[in-house]
Amino acid sequence: MLVTGNDILIPARAGKYAVGAFNTNDMEITQAIIHTAEKLRSPVMVQMSEGAIKYGGQDLADIVIDMAHRSSVPVALHLDHGSSYDSALKAIKMGFTSVMIDASHYPFEENVHETRRVVEAAHAMGISVEAELGRLGGIEEHVVVDEKDAFLTDPEEAVKFVEETGTDYLAIAIGTSHGAYKGKGRPFIDLVRIKRISELVAIPLVAHGSSGVPAELVQRFRDAGGEIGDAVGIADEDLQQAAQYGIAKVNVDTDLRLAMTTGVREVLKKNPKEFDPRKIFGPARDLMSQVVEHKMRVLGSVGKA
Ligand code: G3H
Ligand code: 13P
Ligand code: NA
Ligand code: ZN
Repeated sequence: MLVTGNDILIPARAGKYAVGAFNTNDMEITQAIIHTAEKLRSPVMVQMSEGAIKYGGQDLADIVIDMAHRSSVPVALHLDHGSSYDSALKAIKMGFTSVMIDASHYPFEENVHETRRVVEAAHAMGISVEAELGRLGGIEEHVVVDEKDAFLTDPEEAVKFVEETGTDYLAIAIGTSHGAYKGKGRPFIDLVRIKRISELVAIPLVAHGSSGVPAELVQRFRDAGGEIGDAVGIADEDLQQAAQYGIAKVNVDTDLRLAMTTGVREVLKKNPKEFDPRKIFGPARDLMSQVVEHKMRVLGSVGKA
């Protein structure tokens, strides 16, 4: 069934598990996400960025919405990193049931102001909202506290932000970053900060930049001819701990991108004569399903639907 973000995330926060919010850009990715959720009886969020909307438009949104309606598990369609009030409203008109307004790069008061406008409009239509406070971007563990504080979400500020905006869930900056290069060794994620914020803020918390960038997948990508540097992601154990501490939504895009392109590369490398798209995208879809399954098991959302 198609539900709002709140329908999925409030029980997650209360139950100390997290739900994957997977980015989609086409039918195969969407199928991997929703079919795996059904197989594992897991709630799930499917998200489209503004780039995904530009690429797939209403056609792709309709695929997600139709699959969600026909699904036996809760599915929300979420706007990832909405950059403006207009963008959020446009997504709601397209049928999204959850929207993010990301005004985190503006000064605090302006972030509050933009977020509040979106919250008021979205709530009037029964849609739930994600906002962000703090700056994402890889933070090394050894960085001095003063420098960290300039980027990472301040717990007291988070309280004020949630009160003043009425946002339904809050993305916090905890040291993670988007993409395949999240640091060295075991990339830093500020679990202490998550715990502190969750003690002060009751709403579900959101972790961006949470792909695991599994070493085996990176190796397969390379073996199939892909070029990639020292790619590394967030450790499964760290995400598990984050879910215990109040992270209820975990955003994953990079792992799906890697799985999709690795799947395609492997087929084409093994059989250069192949040109049946189903034989090329089918295995890619299977590999993405494995990534989704792994994430759902790690986050503890399996069996919650
Ligand atoms: O946070 C960024 C997501 O990975 C979406 O990326 O804007 O290229 O679709 P995109
Ligand atoms: P990754 O790049 O780690 O997959 O993060 C995706 C994300 O945060 C989308 O909003
Ligand atoms: Na988002
Ligand atoms: Zn993000």
